[in-house]
Amino acid sequence: MSTSIEMIENVLVVGAGAMGRQIAMTAALAGYRTTVQDISADMLSTARTDLVSWTKERVVKGKLQQGDAQDALERLTWSTDVEHAAVTADFVIEAATERLPVKTEIFRTLGRCAPDHAILTTNSSTLGSSKVADVTGRPEKVCNMHFFNPALVMKCVEVVRHDRTSEDTVGTVLEFTRRLGKLPVLLSREIPGFIANRLMGAVQREALDLAAAGIATVEDIDTTARTALGHPMGPFELMDMIGLDVINFIAEATYADTQDDSDKPHPTVTALLAQGRQGRKSGAGFYDYAQSS
Ligand SMILES: NC(=O)c1ccc[n+]([C@@H]2O[C@H](COP(=O)([O-])OP(=O)(O)OC[C@H]3O[C@@H](n4cnc5c(N)ncnc54)[C@H](O)[C@@H]3O)[C@@H](O)[C@H]2O)c1
Repeated sequence: MSTSIEMIENVLVVGAGAMGRQIAMTAALAGYRTTVQDISADMLSTARTDLVSWTKERVVKGKLQQGDAQDALERLTWSTDVEHAAVTADFVIEAATERLPVKTEIFRTLGRCAPDHAILTTNSSTLGSSKVADVTGRPEKVCNMHFFNPALVMKCVEVVRHDRTSEDTVGTVLEFTRRLGKLPVLLSREIPGFIANRLMGAVQREALDLAAAGIATVEDIDTTARTALGHPMGPFELMDMIGLDVINFIAEATYADTQDDSDKPHPTVTALLAQGRQGRKSGAGFYDYAQSS
């Protein structure tokens, strides 16, 4: 059964964390009735409070009309029961914790409980949807839909098909992404890091190698990226912002997938982590932040 864009009225977002809540609000602002489901009632309550204050700020800044904000918040429903929430879902975006067993169980439940026409997507950054497609019983309706953080702001969404995702599904996911006010980019097959994280990884690797070889300082490499290439942040500033532990985790996950030595965690990052320097969040990474933050 093909799923046309017109069939999509009810959206289900699984996971109300940093990404899920903002993806849900994006769908609600675009006019979709949206259920946010999480196993944690506390997380749902935090997400709700967070979105209410986000909308208030936007209204105060004149970037959102009060009526539109209110309508969008009213389109949101909150639930801890995925089986119940899935029954009426036409389109699902899973944004739960980045662990394969967690996602596998969610997709198994979605396959069992969601209507046959429902498209099931995952926002995972590192797990290709082929890993959870079979347990749904409808692999042709499964793909990655990878938003960027913060999802309410960032325009790009990477749509990644696996080898059994149907043309119909791809077409509807691309159109749905546009209707959310986002810009979809399509990957014709699964590849670790998709597009954006691969580009970012290449720049970071080169920057780390240049600094490690003593060719230029961290500060000068960042200055070059900003002032010669027009990047909003230098690669070291960005790694400090993301967190060096996260950078290492991504490298480990990528290496596990590719077995390519150049994807291994960089020794400079590993050495900084051994000193407790995790980036901004710990007060120090490549730079020291203790006095400025
Ligand atoms: N944080 C980012 O910058 C970012 C960017 C793009 C994609 N992603 C992807 O988005 C997903 C979520 O990331 P996040 O940063 O929002 O994580 P998060 O830790 O902020 O939130 C995850 C949420 O999932 C919930 N959860 C755990 N198990 C669940 C289950 N079985 N059913 C329903 N909810 C469950 C948790 O209670 C939590 O609220 C991950 O797959 C990640 O790879 C993250």
